[in-house]
Amino acid sequence: MAGPQHIAIIMDGNGRWARGRGLPRLAGHRQGTENVRRIVREAKDQGVRYLTIYAFSTENWKRPGPEVRGLMMLLGEFIDRETANLHAEGVQIKHLGSFENVAPRLERKIHDAVELTQHNTLLTLAVAFNYGGRADIVNAVRELIGAGATAEDITEDTISQHLYTHDMPDPDLIIRTGGDFRLSNFLIWQAAYSEYYMTPIFWPDFGVAEFREAIHQYGHRERRFGALPEASPNIK
Ligand code: FPP
Repeated sequence: MAGPQHIAIIMDGNGRWARGRGLPRLAGHRQGTENVRRIVREAKDQGVRYLTIYAFSTENWKRPGPEVRGLMMLLGEFIDRETANLHAEGVQIKHLGSFENVAPRLERKIHDAVELTQHNTLLTLAVAFNYGGRADIVNAVRELIGAGATAEDITEDTISQHLYTHDMPDPDLIIRTGGDFRLSNFLIWQAAYSEYYMTPIFWPDFGVAEFREAIHQYGHRERRFGALPEASPNIK
């Protein structure tokens, strides 16, 4: 099977990575941020067209204030440090999510990075930040109704066209590090036919070799999208 065009990653395990080393949780997030850099480059080298990363969910506001502020700071630093490089490498940055409760300074940084890189086509790096899958669907339906849609106008296609991901294909492969087997409100609509790759490895340790292994395993999956397998023996 052809390689995945769109890979989405739930980058879990930063806190446990740090705890295992006697470090504060934020040190794990910092190391996780470093890892984003190398995985983005590897994705590009592997010919992946879309990479979506779950940086901050709408539920993450429930974490202690210092951790929330730390995550915001790391995202701001990442944008400051990486945007010019990513732009030079032909990477388009997109934001999936809302700006509700986000500091205006960070919002501006995100807007600027998105605007600067909007015409790049080699790889799209979509950062799910202040993102929730259910909210994504609710917003889409509200937009449709706000634009005067009738009940018949609400279809799978029209909802898809109003999601944050409206100009992206659905993820082919969803990777979750850190050992859990759940979606945690990530791309719940878009993931309907995705393949999943779960690993106990914590995100800061999920390196190039592990990323390649996930892509390799995806290559052995048979995607049927609800149809029967090809050459099914019981079909007349
Ligand atoms: C989950 O680990 C990870 C997060 C909630 C945030 C992920 C964010 C980053 C890697 C950094 C910011 C992103 C960018 C794009 C620069 P956890 O804290 O739930 O780990 P645990 O389950 O071990 O506690």
